[in-house]
Amino acid sequence: MRSVYLDHAATTPVHPEVIAAMLRYFNPLYGNASSVHSFGRDARMAIDNAREIVAKAMGAQPNEIFFTSGGTESDNIAIIGTALARQAKGRHIITTAIEHHAVLNACAYLEKQGFEVTYLPVDAYGLVNPSDVNAAIRPDTILISIGHANNEVGTIQPLAEIGAIAKAHKVLLHTDAVQSFGSIPVDVNDLQVDLLSLSGHKIYGPKGIGALYVRRGARPQAIQFGGGQERKLRPGTENVPGIVGLAKAVELAMQEREERNEHISRLRDKLIAGLLTVPEVTLNGHPEQRLPGNVNISVKYVEGESLILSLDLKGIAVSSGSACTSGSLDPSHVLTAMGLSHEEAHGSLRLTLGRDNTEADIDYVLEVFPEIVDRLRAMSPLYNKLDREE
Ligand SMILES: Cc1ncc(COP(=O)(O)O)c(C=O)c1O
Repeated sequence: MRSVYLDHAATTPVHPEVIAAMLRYFNPLYGNASSVHSFGRDARMAIDNAREIVAKAMGAQPNEIFFTSGGTESDNIAIIGTALARQAKGRHIITTAIEHHAVLNACAYLEKQGFEVTYLPVDAYGLVNPSDVNAAIRPDTILISIGHANNEVGTIQPLAEIGAIAKAHKVLLHTDAVQSFGSIPVDVNDLQVDLLSLSGHKIYGPKGIGALYVRRGARPQAIQFGGGQERKLRPGTENVPGIVGLAKAVELAMQEREERNEHISRLRDKLIAGLLTVPEVTLNGHPEQRLPGNVNISVKYVEGESLILSLDLKGIAVSSGSACTSGSLDPSHVLTAMGLSHEEAHGSLRLTLGRDNTEADIDYVLEVFPEIVDRLRAMSPLYNKLDREE
C-alpha cells in the first residue's frame, strides 16, 4: 500500500545530512562539553559552532541563543522565567486564545501563582488584531507571548506590528516560532521580539532539542537548577548530538527554504483546490497568510477522528484538531476561538506537507478522500436526516 505522510506539523523525518552530522557526536566524539580534555573541547567546539549557526539564521548574536530540550521547554523558560524575573514590576501577561499548550499551560500555572493573564481573541482566520494587543497593555504588563504561526491552521500573525507596539510600551515580547522558524523568514530584529522559541523536530532535525533566543537585557530567571551549562539558564549536560543536528537542520533550512517552499506551497494549493471540490468542505485559517505546508479543512457531517482512521487505513497520515493528545473529546481550542461551531471543529482535518511529498502523493489523497467522505457521510445520522428532510 502507498504510504503518504501529511503530518509535518506534528514532526518531520530527520534529514539524512542531519543524521550524518550527528553520528560522530555519539561516537567517537562523545565528550562532555564541560570536560577540559580534548574530548570535552571537541564537544564544546561543536556547541559553539552550532550556536553561531542558529544565531545567524535569525539575526541574533551567539550569546543570545540557549539550547533547550525543545519547544515546550523554551516556552516554559520564556514565560515562567520572565514572570519570575519581572514580578516586582508587575504580574500581568498577555497572550492569545489560540496558543500551543506549551504556552497556555505555562500561563495557567502562573495564574495559579497569582499572575493575571489576558487571552486575546482572534478573528475568523485566526489573526490577532495588533490594536487589541495595544489596548490590553497595562502599567503592570510584563510580557506578551504570541505565536508566530499557528500549529493547527498555519495562520501567520502580524508579529512585526505587534513587536513595534510591545517596544513602544517597553513590554517584552516572546514568540513561539516552532512552526514558522525554518519555514518562513524569522529575524528577531525585523520582528522586534525579545524571546523566541524553536524546536528541532519540526525542521527535519532530531526530537528533544530546541533553542530559546533571549535578547540581551531580557534574561528570564532559571526555572531548573543544576550545573552552570547554558550560562545557568538551562543547566544539565548538553545534548551534543542533538545540538549538532539542530544546527545542521537550521543550516539546510536556510539553504533550501525557497526551493522547499515553492514545491510545498504548489502541492498545498493543489491539495486545497482538490479537497474543496467535495461538497461542504471548507478551508480553515487564512487563505494567504498561512504557512506554506498547512492545509486545515472542516468536513461537514463527519468526525475528524473517523476521517483520520479511514485515511490511515489507506496509508495516509494526517491529524485533526478535534481531540487533543490528552484524549479529551473537547473540540480544538483554536478552531472554536476562530468562531467555528463545535460540529465544524469536530469535523476538522489537518494535512501538513513537507519536502518529501510528491505530486503523486496529492493525487492519491484526492482520489481516496471523496470516497471516504461519501462512505462516512452515508453512515452519519445527521447527514441522512438532512437527506430525508429535503
Ligand atoms: C507551536 C508549537 N509550540 C511548541 C511545540 C512543542 O515543541 P516540542 O515538541 O519541541 O516540545 C509544538 C509542537 O507540537 C508546536 O507546534
